Amino acid sequence: MSNSKTNFKVVLITGAGKRVGASIAEHCHKQGMRIAIHYRTSATEAEALCQKFNHEKNDTAIAIQSDLLTIKNHEILVDKVIKKWGQLDVLINNASSFYPTPIEHMTEKNWEDLVGSNLKAPLFLSQTAMPYLKKQSGSIINMVDIQAQRPMKKYSIYCIAKAGLGMLTKSLAKELGPAIRVNGIAPGIALWPDNTADFNPTLREKIIARTALKRAGTPKDIADTVVFLINANYITGQIIAVDGGLSLDY
Ligand SMILES: NC(=O)c1ccc[n+]([C@@H]2O[C@H](COP(=O)([O-])OP(=O)(O)OC[C@H]3O[C@@H](n4cnc5c(N)ncnc54)[C@H](OP(=O)(O)O)[C@@H]3O)[C@@H](O)[C@H]2O)c1
Repeated sequence: MSNSKTNFKVVLITGAGKRVGASIAEHCHKQGMRIAIHYRTSATEAEALCQKFNHEKNDTAIAIQSDLLTIKNHEILVDKVIKKWGQLDVLINNASSFYPTPIEHMTEKNWEDLVGSNLKAPLFLSQTAMPYLKKQSGSIINMVDIQAQRPMKKYSIYCIAKAGLGMLTKSLAKELGPAIRVNGIAPGIALWPDNTADFNPTLREKIIARTALKRAGTPKDIADTVVFLINANYITGQIIAVDGGLSLDY
């Protein structure tokens, strides 16, 4: 139950300018929530999404730029949300970098980027948001990955970071209860990566064949689960696989 005196929830979604994050934003906005669309480089997409929401319903969205690798940016980001609406009900740690790091070629910079965006930023952004989420009896949702449990060859740093994010979800659920619920979503294939040649059509078919439902998922499947978790008042410390049964095949 929210302690808010308003009849809406304020949701901060990181990496929400496009792809899965944008779909989560759309779906939460449709439910009457106020949306803080965080982005790093996708300014055009984030501003367009923000305009669309505000056109549909006045003053219901803001777009905020921030590089989450710099922890001191987190306070500025959260302050902007609080200045706008005076409350924060839900933090969705969705921003992520994703690329292969074969052991022969990986660098410290890759580690800082992949662990920084997928693990360190969610932890420290949760710390910054905590006092505001507490006031609202709010919640945190972390975007994990089924590959957090079963490694993907040549993606070790990414898998390590997501495995850490899974433990972060459970650890913070214990530490932040009863005031704040903390859950995760582990997608299988929600949207194919657009920045890597690794996922060619043959591999895509092979992955789909391994799902029980014989199809890839969609960003909306993830967004539906986000809305479910926002309202699931007796669920905390859980990571829900939204993967069409792909993880059953490992
Ligand atoms: N797509 C899938 O099927 C799938 C599968 C498993 C898990 N997931 C997880 O689900 C989430 C959403 O997936 P997605 O494919 O939509 O993600 P994505 O497109 O790979 O990344 C989302 C956004 O993260 C932002 N980002 C990256 N590094 C950042 C940093 N240092 N600071 C701030 N923002 C940063 C980028 O924002 P800008 O564009 O603004 O720079 C990017 O658009 C991710 O956490 C992903 O790991 C997705």
